[in-house]
Amino acid sequence: MTNPLLSRRTLLVGGLGLASVGALSACTSSGGNKAGMPSRTFGAPSSVSPSAGQKVVEASLTARPATLDLAGRQVSTWAYGEAAPGPLVRATAGDFLRVTLDNQLPADTTIHWHGIRLRNSADGVPGLTQDPVKPGAKYVYEFTAPDPGTYFFHPHVGVQLDRGLYAPLIIDDPAESVDFDKEWVVVLDDWLDGIMGDPDTELETLRRNGSGMIGQGSEIAYPFYLVNGRPPADPETFQAAPGERVRLRIINASSDTVYRVALGGHRLKVTHKDGIPTLPKETDAIIIGMGERYDLSTTVGDGAFPLVAMAEGKSGQAYAVLRTSASAAAPPPDVQPDELARGILWAPLLSGDDHVPRGQERAGDKADRTITIQLGVRGGRYVWTMNGKTFEEADPFVVSRDEVVRIIWQNMSHMPHPMHLHGHSFRLTDGGSWHDTVLVGPMGAVAAQFVADNPGAWMMHCHNIFHAEAGMMATLGYRA
Ligand code: C2O
Ligand code: CU
Repeated sequence: MTNPLLSRRTLLVGGLGLASVGALSACTSSGGNKAGMPSRTFGAPSSVSPSAGQKVVEASLTARPATLDLAGRQVSTWAYGEAAPGPLVRATAGDFLRVTLDNQLPADTTIHWHGIRLRNSADGVPGLTQDPVKPGAKYVYEFTAPDPGTYFFHPHVGVQLDRGLYAPLIIDDPAESVDFDKEWVVVLDDWLDGIMGDPDTELETLRRNGSGMIGQGSEIAYPFYLVNGRPPADPETFQAAPGERVRLRIINASSDTVYRVALGGHRLKVTHKDGIPTLPKETDAIIIGMGERYDLSTTVGDGAFPLVAMAEGKSGQAYAVLRTSASAAAPPPDVQPDELARGILWAPLLSGDDHVPRGQERAGDKADRTITIQLGVRGGRYVWTMNGKTFEEADPFVVSRDEVVRIIWQNMSHMPHPMHLHGHSFRLTDGGSWHDTVLVGPMGAVAAQFVADNPGAWMMHCHNIFHAEAGMMATLGYRA
């Protein structure tokens, strides 16, 4: 193991040792207009055409009220079609996607293509890249998906992600030598909609209670944790044959839950993080924050094995079954395989392999600009901040095209924050892996670099959707 990795580890896991309170701003104002963001209308989506020979992949999604069956319990929610997760959208790297959203919800919505380095105008952020899509209206998203990998999509309006509005997006690698027999897409979700009110009423409750209740932030105790829309009492069963090589694409579509994931009786090899290859690394379990994706591979044994995603710091878990034998008894849904307590891997412990996303060749050079962001909470209130300011109060972070940008996220709170940057992938410093979302642990810090190669106005925010809505969100713009 090289020294750079060691220093990265120290920085990331050990934190920066900064005082937690002093750095928080004393600012108490809230509300008001977004600084430096004139209200803007966009009109019809800017049109773009596939280039000659580019394959076009078309899909249609209807966002609408739906009734789901959660182990016999009927719940009303909003979904893409009749199920949550919604339908898988799949294409090959370099394809041109044309996806029509039909909004049959009683509310404005949009779709954000999480993790895709796409053109800014298709990014799905109302007020920043498009007008909100009104009830009854349609909107066509057209973009090229440049990089292979495991992604997902969801609305970028309020806390709609915490309903059933999410689905996987997989971009295949035409150059990949496939050494898997089977692939299992595993979408994790925390569920309260239709059971504990709805996500909007939950946000009101959080605001009313403030953040003083559990350390510096209340977390939501969800009634259900789901794998592919199913609670542990009615689990998904994934079939394979003993000895087959299975690729698991794990997507955390939750709004407020970090998971520890393990497959009983198996070691897991991490091969990709947020779609981008890592130096392959074996582990017993991974920690996955909201918005993060891990590709894992394993050779399956003979029997019936639990795939468990334990809700970190909460009670409850998501559960599914991997079955390679018809006769083996299914493990109980509350099983906690030993692997959960063994070696645990999370984003800062991964290393990048030689793969560098196109245009990012200089990402490891000396930074031209450093942006330091302190993640905090405003004393006792459910108000989450970046450098002491909420989204409404903050000015955009500004970069110039082609510079090497270094971002340092310093978590001054006792809750983890999965930080997500739209339209870019960034590499953790000193040889880490590539991410578009990275979990910054309580009182920890993460440093990352990228080349500013995708001009536009982009969101950067915590992917705890309640934190984002309560202020932990900002824009990153390119100097004209
Ligand atoms: Cu999946 Cu702005 O986020
Ligand atoms: Cu957060």
